[in-house]
Amino acid sequence: MSKILVTGGTGYIGSHTCVELLNAGYEIVVIDNFCNSSPKSAARVKKITGKDFKVCECDIRDKDGLKKVFEAEKPDAVIHFAGLKAVGESCVKPLEYYENNIWGTVALLEVMRDCGCKRIVFSSSATVYGSENKVPFVETMPVGTATNPYGTTKIYIENILQDLYKADNEWSIELLRYFNPIGAHPSGQIGENPNGIPNNLMPYIAQVAVGKREMLSVYGNDYPTPDGTGVRDYIHVVDLAVGHIKAVTRALGKTGVDIYNLGTGIGYSVLDIVNTFMEVNKINIPYKIVDRRPGDIAECYANADKAKEELGWVAALNLADMCRDTWNWQKNNPNGYDD
Ligand code: NAD
Ligand code: WQD
Repeated sequence: MSKILVTGGTGYIGSHTCVELLNAGYEIVVIDNFCNSSPKSAARVKKITGKDFKVCECDIRDKDGLKKVFEAEKPDAVIHFAGLKAVGESCVKPLEYYENNIWGTVALLEVMRDCGCKRIVFSSSATVYGSENKVPFVETMPVGTATNPYGTTKIYIENILQDLYKADNEWSIELLRYFNPIGAHPSGQIGENPNGIPNNLMPYIAQVAVGKREMLSVYGNDYPTPDGTGVRDYIHVVDLAVGHIKAVTRALGKTGVDIYNLGTGIGYSVLDIVNTFMEVNKINIPYKIVDRRPGDIAECYANADKAKEELGWVAALNLADMCRDTWNWQKNNPNGYDD
């Protein structure tokens, strides 16, 4: 079976993908610098799967360090999750985001090329559709203008990868545009573990539920949506992880660049999420309506047909599953991976 190197493999989506890769029979090796994760998540992945793998503490910007890992491990393909992802922080520290995400990816690609490993699955984002396109977002739409440096890094990296294939068509590149990943592994052993005040909706709700935050602020109820609150395409992180198995399997068998939306195709409002979370988990979430958050768009959801047709992938889990599994993780790990 092929060996997959997973960058950012101890993070939220990376750890769930490691579980699915191991369950599918792949060998894996993880690299992470732990800037936004805990090595303990890898121990939990080993516990869930009953399988062992190597975790290398390495920064993707460290080409010498990367080269050692590639030479020792000889991976067949890379799934590249490593990157900084906080939208608000990227507006305050744009250089750190460009340096970590873009330069880090270029360093990784150089080492991959030099070591003859030319298959990569990249974590892109629905944010690349910008505010110009109309929902549902389809892969054939032109990429939009990002409203923040984080989003710009995703657009640049997509372009870099496209250019790389044009220059050398031995590459196999899968660009996966995630919509809004939420939820956690049903075991309750791994999940999202934000540092400080959560930026995203579901982690914030989970922290209100567990008593760490008093009240949710709902950012605006005057959008042109059914209940006035923002609409997003929330996808269970386990479904997302399974999408990566399909994509990396495809990458191992062909060359070229593919782009896939990974979403459910269904849009839910902020209040849909709050109400479903309360109903499924029988717990109250106090909230207040506040001003819109700058940079937010009214609606963001996928046309998910291409992934279904070409990868044979569809999201199998629903919003109730996402809310139940988020709470199962949060209530069993109120401090994330910290004891
Ligand atoms: P995460 O922060 O949990 O995981 C990212 C991992 O990368 C972390 O473990 C972090 O320590 C590591 N990392 C960061 N910079 C690194 C570096 N220079 N060298 C080595 N390791 C480094 O985030 P996540 O939610 O799991 O996201 C994974 C990827 O998916 C990211 O690229 C993110 O931009 C992308 N993405 C996430 C979402 C989302 O809503 N979570 C949506 C779309 C795209
Ligand atoms: C969802 C909805 C908010 C928090 C972000 C990135 C995107 C992608 C996924 C990486 C919106 C509302 C939120 C809160 C709220 N990440 N909200 N109160 O903004 O759709 O996407 O994460 O690529 O690039 O921008 O996700 O979870 O922050 O917001 O009312 O405390 O919830 O206004 O309508 P978003 P989110």
